[in-house]
Amino acid sequence: MKLVFLGPPGAGKGTISRMVSERLGIPQISTGDIFRTAVKEKTELGLKVQAILAAGGLVPDELTIAIVKDRLSWPDAQRSYILDGFPRTIAQAEALAGFSSLDAAVDFEVKDELILFRLTGRRVCKVCGAIYHVVTKPPKVEGICDLCSGELYIRNDDKEETVKARLNAYHEETEPLIGWYGNRSLLLTIDGSPDAETVYNAFISEIGRFLRK
Ligand code: AP5
Ligand code: MG
Ligand code: ZN
Repeated sequence: MKLVFLGPPGAGKGTISRMVSERLGIPQISTGDIFRTAVKEKTELGLKVQAILAAGGLVPDELTIAIVKDRLSWPDAQRSYILDGFPRTIAQAEALAGFSSLDAAVDFEVKDELILFRLTGRRVCKVCGAIYHVVTKPPKVEGICDLCSGELYIRNDDKEETVKARLNAYHEETEPLIGWYGNRSLLLTIDGSPDAETVYNAFISEIGRFLRK
């Protein structure tokens, strides 16, 4: 199955796509993770996008589209993938439609009030990228990843003022994709506000009707 995960910052795109990836063996491709790795490793891409990520803006379409197009050409992505955080603009959605055909666009709905709680409590493993929350998904040992014993860190764009900029970018640039995919009969809307296991189960019980059409 070929899916895109939509939804505001903190909707649970990373959490749910990692659960699907681990349980069903589907590659999870997160443009946010690709950019953060590039920043950490100070690659040419990292130097280009560092200030944009820190400010909560969007990386230019041309650059983002080229990265995703290349990643989707890898052998592991020929049958199935989940794109977590791409597309984020109509131009990205149009480009994607030109080089791959989707089964569904899954929109995780979460109200703005919940987002700040989720993002300010988020902790991420430096080594494997596992996602935690100090209240809703605490690690067994504070500051240490359950899976790989890596150190947990706070994302540099999870500061309150940067979250506001990311939310603005979401409402202006990304939210219109809900209608765009709805018009193409590809939209699956899932309530992203219950606990992660409930959200995952809702996704699993609904996605079947989009497959093998
Ligand atoms: P990206 O990394 O994609 O960030 P985002 O869209 O802002 O989304 P987040 O990763 O913050 O949230 P999420 O939905 O994955 O939530 P999570 O599962 O972690 O992008 C970062 C930046 O990269 C962008 O700002 C932009 O600059 C750039 N970028 C990326 N893609 C781009 C593109 N296509 N075009 C241009 N620029 C691009 O969950 C959040 C927290 O809540 C965690 O603590 C988690 O444990 C908790 N939680 C999750 N689900 C639940 C639940 N159901 N119940 C309780 N707690 C939960
Ligand atoms: Mg994410
Ligand atoms: Zn880890």
